[in-house]
Amino acid sequence: MRLDKYLCEAGLGTRSQVKKLLKSGAVTVNGKTVCKPEIKIEEADTVAVSGQTLSVSALEYWMLCKPAGCVSATEDSRFQTVTDLLPREARRDLFPVGRLDRDTEGLLLLTNDGKLAHFLLSPRRHVDKVYEAEIRGKVTEEHVKLFAEGLDIGDEKKTLPAVLEIQREPRTQDETTRIRITIREGRFHQIKRMFEAVGCEVVYLCRLSMGSLKLDKNLKPGECRPLKEEEIKALKEETGC
Ligand code: URA
Repeated sequence: MRLDKYLCEAGLGTRSQVKKLLKSGAVTVNGKTVCKPEIKIEEADTVAVSGQTLSVSALEYWMLCKPAGCVSATEDSRFQTVTDLLPREARRDLFPVGRLDRDTEGLLLLTNDGKLAHFLLSPRRHVDKVYEAEIRGKVTEEHVKLFAEGLDIGDEKKTLPAVLEIQREPRTQDETTRIRITIREGRFHQIKRMFEAVGCEVVYLCRLSMGSLKLDKNLKPGECRPLKEEEIKALKEETGC
């Protein structure tokens, strides 16, 4: 990270205030006075101001209950983004770990920990992702079997086996079926395409968990909170990061 950004993150003021501070000669990096705002700070560097060592937690982890209507991106010209929903105190370099469709709700992890994100998203790691959904059309035990075998959704390869559970059957023709599904991949529109492949339609989709990380039931759509130490530890343990 650039030194001026690092100093801002440490709460030493705006970019222009930090530039003045650097010019004054008060800032040292590993014991040497540094005046250039653009020099890069690594995790192992010690930054001090007037002899006081700063500590900036370089890595941050936030859980967002993504609402429908916003996009899983850091910038968008048309729609609200998931990073727009983070509070002011969150770091500016956070990004969403994977994408949920604009109309999908639920668990989204935002971090600047590229290594952890890479592991969680790697197609080779098969991290479990659990979703709850409302499906138009009757979901049957036959579908459960088909999902367990893997489905042709028009990609080169069939989907990996998915666990489909029927949670509430429709009582009338107009009612939807509530299901829970566990997938181990993250293909584009995967769940919607899996149901399409068996002649059904997803009308509501919400992610409940990703690996060991579970959506906090106290978060309403649009709300977020930093991850707890034990949640970070569990994610790091399971990914080996
Ligand atoms: N599968 C989908 O179809 N959409 C999502 O947002 C996530 C999984």
